[in-house]
Parts: sequence; C-alpha cells; structure tokens
Amino acid sequence: MATTLPASLYRGEEQYERERATVFSSTWLYVAHESELPVPGSYVATVRAGYPVIVSRGRDGRLQGFHNVCPHRAGPLVHDGTGTASSFVCRYHGWVFESDGALRGARDFGEPGPPEGCRLWDVKVDAWRGFVFVNLDGAAPPLPSSLGTFADEVATFDLEGFVPAGTWSHDLACNWKTYAENYLEGYHIPIVHRELARSIDVARYEVEVHEDWVLHRAPPRDGTVLDGRWLWRWPNLALNVYADAMNLEQFLPLGPSCTRVAYQYFSRDGTLDEDVSRLSKLLLEEDAGICEAVQRNLDAGVYRTGTLSSRHEDGVARFHELVATASQPAPA
Ligand code: FES
Ligand SMILES: [Fe+2]
Repeated sequence: MATTLPASLYRGEEQYERERATVFSSTWLYVAHESELPVPGSYVATVRAGYPVIVSRGRDGRLQGFHNVCPHRAGPLVHDGTGTASSFVCRYHGWVFESDGALRGARDFGEPGPPEGCRLWDVKVDAWRGFVFVNLDGAAPPLPSSLGTFADEVATFDLEGFVPAGTWSHDLACNWKTYAENYLEGYHIPIVHRELARSIDVARYEVEVHEDWVLHRAPPRDGTVLDGRWLWRWPNLALNVYADAMNLEQFLPLGPSCTRVAYQYFSRDGTLDEDVSRLSKLLLEEDAGICEAVQRNLDAGVYRTGTLSSRHEDGVARFHELVATASQPAPA
C-alpha cells in the first residue's frame, strides 16, 4: 500500500528552494501560447517558481528566452506581461541589450567597461503545437523527447484548431503539491464537487497513470460540456480538452505556502465559452476551500503520512514518486 509524502515536504523555504532547483528548473515549463508572440520583437515576461523570464521572438523569427535579470545589478529588463521591443533597456541604470541578449551599451559606465561578452542569461525555449515552453537550467532533454508519450496521447486532438479566449487565475493559500494532488484524483469528486458529480458518471471515472503524465476521463451523463479529458503533465501543467473548448491550467508556486492556479481558455473562434468558464471557476472555488483546509492541517503537526487508495489515488502515488526522486538532496 502506498503511503503519502511526509507533511514536512509541504512547508518551509528549504524544501521550496530545493524544488525550485530540482523540479522547476530542470523540466520544461509552459509559459505562453505562440499567438502571444506574433511578430519579431514580441515578448512575454512572466515568473515561474520565482524565476523571472522573458520569452521573445528574435529578428529572425525564432523564439528565444532570457532571465529577466540584468547582469549589472539584477535590475529587471521589462515588466511582466506582453509587449514588443527591438532591444531591452534595463529599468535600473539603462544598460541596453540587443534582442538576442548581447550587451549593446552600458550607459555612462566609465572605464573599464563591463566584462567582454556580457549578456543576458539565456533560457532554453521550444514550442510544441503552438505551446511555448522554457527549460531554465538548459539541461533537460529536447522538448519533443521530454513530452514523449504525452504528445502521442494528444496527437489526434485538434489543438491547432483552438485560439486563446481569455485567462483567469486564483491564488490559493497552499503548497503547489497540495493542489496538484487534488487534481490527480477523482476520489473527492462526490464529496467536494456536487455539480460535477451530477454531470459525470463518477462510478466509471478512470485515471490512467503514465511515467510523467496522468489522464482522467469519465463518461458524461447528458452531453454536458464536461465531456472531456483531463491530462496532467509533470510537474505543473494540466490540459483540459472538450469537444469545442480547451483550457490550460498551470499550478504556479508563488512560495512554499501560496499557489496561483492560472487558466488559459481556448475556443474555436476566440469566444469564451461561458459554461466552461463558470464550471472551472466553481470547481476551483471548491478545490481551493478543501486544499487550503488540508494545508492548514498539514501545517498543524498532527498528520505525518497517510495511505493512498489503489482504486483512486494511483495518480497521486506517481506524483509522490516523481517529487521524491526530484527533490532528493544532491549526493555530497
Ligand atoms: S541593474 Fe541593469 S543597468 Fe544596472
Ligand atoms: Fe477537485
């Protein structure tokens, strides 16, 4: 019988810092849809697990990525959000960087100048079927091989037939793993999600566990918009696909005890499907309530570990294996 991760892994700066380095730096993380980077000079600036990053389209049209951190004294190059820039000008002392990250000029710096070859720190970027990912430590295998059988599973989905239709996010007072585990099992649905439980055949809810991704599906009762598939990919991405809508859901850690769940909605014509939006907000509200209560109990110091249901919680068990493997302290 599988046991859970110890409660001590769900709190504290030390474990969070370890996960920033071993979980979030070493994997491919989704950052933007390619439609957000339409022309040379377009950029998206965002933060992933505390790392500020810029993804931009270079003069040659190729995607490139940088840490949004100036090598002079750590100033930010651009505000978070989207924009267009032919070069990046640091917002602290005005150093100018070419669109490829090379230092063009260090304003009024004097002699000697900045070190030879000074440039922005690169971040590895690649796109898959319109979805742009970054790998912060540059050591992950190429994106296609990293996606592996997850990409095969969605090969027949018409992902290119969807366009962005809006975003929405909500911050939860819990560790990112507390929310991820909630996503990874349907065991709580009849208790926590009454409306969802009425719309799907909960008794036939299926969870299919793969090496680093998990698929959920449940037969709908009556043509509900929830006739779909829910896919999760290590560490923090979920892809919820329905007949005429899709949403991407990211579990973004803002700190050891705070997680932003960020939705990006897609539809065929760019119009937000009100049913999908309403239901995702309702489900998140319900999950937020239970996840925040669970987190308070994990922090209380009573619970150390628990046991997992082999009927319902194999996805959680796999997630725990991946966390344990990734967050082991490096050998001395
Ligand atoms: S920190 Fe960027 S120019 Fe000083
Ligand atoms: Fe849930």
